[in-house]
Amino acid sequence: MKKSARAAIVLAAGKGTRMKSGLSKVLHEANGKPLAWYPVRRALDLRCDPIVVVVGHQGDEVRARLEALFPGAPLKFAVQAEQKGTGHAVLCARRALAGHTGRLLVLYGDVPLLKTETLRTLTDAGRRNPVAFLSMRPADPTGYGRVVRDARGKVTAIVEHKDATPDQRAIGECNAGLYDCDAGFVWKALKSVGTANAQGEYYLTDLVAAAFAAGTPAVAVDAPVEEVSGVNDRVELAEAARVLRRRLAEKWMRAGVTLVDPATTYIDEEVELAADVTVEPNVRLLGATRVGSGSRIGFGSVIENSTVGSFVAVKPYSIFESAKVGDRAQIGPFARLRPGSDLAEDVHVGNFVETKKTTMGKGAKANHLAYLGDATIGSKTNVGAGTITCNYDGVNKLPTVLGDGVFIGSDTQLVAPVTVGDGAYVAAGSTIVRDVPPGALALSRTEQVVKEGWVARRKAQQAAAAQAPRGRKTAPKRSAASRRTRRG
Ligand code: UD1
Ligand code: CA
Repeated sequence: MKKSARAAIVLAAGKGTRMKSGLSKVLHEANGKPLAWYPVRRALDLRCDPIVVVVGHQGDEVRARLEALFPGAPLKFAVQAEQKGTGHAVLCARRALAGHTGRLLVLYGDVPLLKTETLRTLTDAGRRNPVAFLSMRPADPTGYGRVVRDARGKVTAIVEHKDATPDQRAIGECNAGLYDCDAGFVWKALKSVGTANAQGEYYLTDLVAAAFAAGTPAVAVDAPVEEVSGVNDRVELAEAARVLRRRLAEKWMRAGVTLVDPATTYIDEEVELAADVTVEPNVRLLGATRVGSGSRIGFGSVIENSTVGSFVAVKPYSIFESAKVGDRAQIGPFARLRPGSDLAEDVHVGNFVETKKTTMGKGAKANHLAYLGDATIGSKTNVGAGTITCNYDGVNKLPTVLGDGVFIGSDTQLVAPVTVGDGAYVAAGSTIVRDVPPGALALSRTEQVVKEGWVARRKAQQAAAAQAPRGRKTAPKRSAASRRTRRG
């Protein structure tokens, strides 16, 4: 395989003191993803390989989370035990990058709003320069490194706020802290970077002065402040999440999706929606969810890692988790499809129906109050209200198979493992413990008893008892009516 032309380093060792949290800053979530997810995603968009995440605070947790979120990605981890500055952090990644001779992208773990297209502008600009970096013009530049230029406009250095002269502090052009460099140049230049500065840190920004000294000044690429602003506290975290949501909402609306109230709609980055999908307010579409054209997702629904076909009606407050729903199906309100639910076209699943590891054939229906677990349900089969698959015997999960065109009467318990053949009927209220052959009727109930006139007789009996003198020790003679009642 061809070696990748570009590797990436994600700096994520900082503690994030202003989050006031026991959790590492980069593990805090914005729009459903930890902050560290975003730079890794962007580096993958640019085909960086490897991507080295420099971790410190809660390094093991950060590593575990990212590995789980990016299975199979060319992720590596380097530990920076003590935070001695951005230059030191990059040096910590050097071992993991042994043998890489191409470009090196440096990203921050706490900058989730950066767009891939902005990074492409950076990498294009940097093609012939040892160092290219993103600059910005924040309303208040306090705290940022300033971009210092010579009379010809060449970038001579980045001077940190704490090291800057009053003249330099008046510069509005700031360093955003994201770079695309030549790897060889970085390792060579960082060798001579010291800590003789106001913070006693190894500054990665010293690369910029080194590039100027080498006669190849760094290029600055102006980026929108919003994109390159880092998250430092929970107010900024919530604001970043809001921007992420707004962006995704706009993307989908422009692609032909109706979002009734974009501000209350949560759509993860990997979700895919076809044109003419309608999403009602307060809906969360999460993970690798796909929704086909003409489908409507009702108020308050949460759909995660699921595939929804075309012209599906998902009525309010339905919850899907790793489920598949075929075209024209009608689901909910208040339906819960748990992992392994696979519903074919035209299936109806109504209110308070829960499915798990269950397939339903074309046109099958379970419209009210049912639990269908580990079941295979044939096409056009009707599952009555209150039906329950008793799929768990306390040790094992056991299968229920209903054929095509089966009718399951209301309030049936299907004690698994059990099979009901094609076209069979199960009478309401039955407890089915043995297989039912195709075309048969199965019925398991105790015989019904009817006692005519019972209510009037009991009333008479109660009235007689109330009239009897109080404190009588011996039992009253039973009336004829009461004797009849006892006999039934
Ligand atoms: C840095 C730049 C500054 C720029 C600013 C933009 C330097 C010396 N300064 O400021 O010019 O305007 O970013 O935000 O580079 N980190 C580590 N290990 C460390 C230090 C930092 O992993 O030892 C990580 C942090 O977790 C963070 C990122 O690097 O993700 C930036 O660190 P931060 O302290 O926020 O930036 P400054 O050094 O203040
Ligand atoms: Ca019953």
